[in-house]
Amino acid sequence: MRTENDCERLIVNGGEPLVGSVIVHGAKNAVLPMLAASVLTDEPVTVTDCPDITDVTDMAGVLSALGCRVEREGRNITVCGCCRSSEIPLALAKAIRSSVFMLGPLVSRTGEARMHAPGGCRIGARPLDIHLGGLAALGAEVSFDGDCVVCRADKLRGADIVLRYPSVGATENLVMAAVCAQGTTRIIGAAREPEIVSLVNLLRKMGAAVRGEGTPLITVEGVSGLQGAVCAPVPDRIAAGTVMAAVAVCGGRVELSGANADHLGAVISPFLGAHTFLVEHSGVLIFESDGMLSPTDIVTGPYPLFPTDMQAPFMACQCYASGMCSMRETVFEDRFAHITELRKMGAEIAVAGCTAYIDGSKGMHGAEVAASDLRGGAGLTVAALGAKGESVISGLRYIDRGYERIEELFSSLGGRVRRVRRDR
Ligand code: EPZ
Repeated sequence: MRTENDCERLIVNGGEPLVGSVIVHGAKNAVLPMLAASVLTDEPVTVTDCPDITDVTDMAGVLSALGCRVEREGRNITVCGCCRSSEIPLALAKAIRSSVFMLGPLVSRTGEARMHAPGGCRIGARPLDIHLGGLAALGAEVSFDGDCVVCRADKLRGADIVLRYPSVGATENLVMAAVCAQGTTRIIGAAREPEIVSLVNLLRKMGAAVRGEGTPLITVEGVSGLQGAVCAPVPDRIAAGTVMAAVAVCGGRVELSGANADHLGAVISPFLGAHTFLVEHSGVLIFESDGMLSPTDIVTGPYPLFPTDMQAPFMACQCYASGMCSMRETVFEDRFAHITELRKMGAEIAVAGCTAYIDGSKGMHGAEVAASDLRGGAGLTVAALGAKGESVISGLRYIDRGYERIEELFSSLGGRVRRVRRDR
């Protein structure tokens, strides 16, 4: 569902406790690479339990533009048919960063991939050197045609690839490039995120020979071809963490069905303290808080450390904590845009390099604020839910990239949130 969300606003009247239950659907960051993997075969590939968000719509658009047939039935998306093009259209490449992990499957399947510099959230330079270096190691010829990156290979060959940083997207790209390469590929220093495990689950169902997913060493034995499959993505741990952040700020009790506690270790532990508790009961996570938050210092990092995608939502919690605490962002070099907006709500935040120091004792009030990236927008929404008075949040096109109708999510729990149209 695509809404004209540039002239839409969230109107939030904070201070209500949040009580109720939510269903945690498939993770955006699992569904996107899984959809990309569908080009590795002409047979139908179905990804189930997909969230209804614009990044998924845009990825479906990329696949259609490549000549694949994309069918959506409820939350299930089926991709079939072969690629008749190997060029990712400029507009779609600019729309989503995840167009970048079309490179591996496309060059594997068609012998060529052409892509303009990908878009996505402005949270840093987000270079492609790890992706392109890995593809070159597999025998792809990498060149540039203007701002278009071109990868060509008659046949990819297995190789040892050492990643200088455990890049999630590069790990996914290279696994997908390696599954039909000639020989064995070892990805050393691979990222370990659960979303990568989800992708490998699908690839294995398609006939790929991959082992070590979720560890820093992934080994791929190239096979001659892959077939269709049906696969469910892991649940969205960031969506679950965002709901927990809102309950921590507002107080209340929420049941999160479908969440996987095994993926949430580093997210859950900073929430726990004298005023909160969490229990898992037959696959449902129950999180309760009285809204009295104690200051907690956080450092983000690659999985299994505290996820960078939870940095902004958790910083909103720190703005309500009873004292000073810090947030150190080690993954992206420019992921503090939400701080300017939080200050409009009364937040006391000082920044030194990649560390923010937050004094939550001053309290927060409603304000007019603007989201400029997906998770920053989620953080502003969490902060507004706890603030006294009315907040108006713009930039919903960022929030809608990763959250399904966020206003319904929180109003279903008792939050006073609505989406309005503002023609100015
Ligand atoms: C994925 O982005 C996620 N996106 C991001 O979620 C997430 O924040 C990130 O992983 C880290 O967990 C998707 O999965 C679609 P990286 P990705 O490559 O793959 C640097 C969200 O809000 N780097 O792990 O782009 C890079 O600049 C989004 O859902 C290079 O230097 O992240 C960054 O500093 C935002 N060269 C660091 O590595 C490269 O070639 C981690 O980036 C690649 C990455």
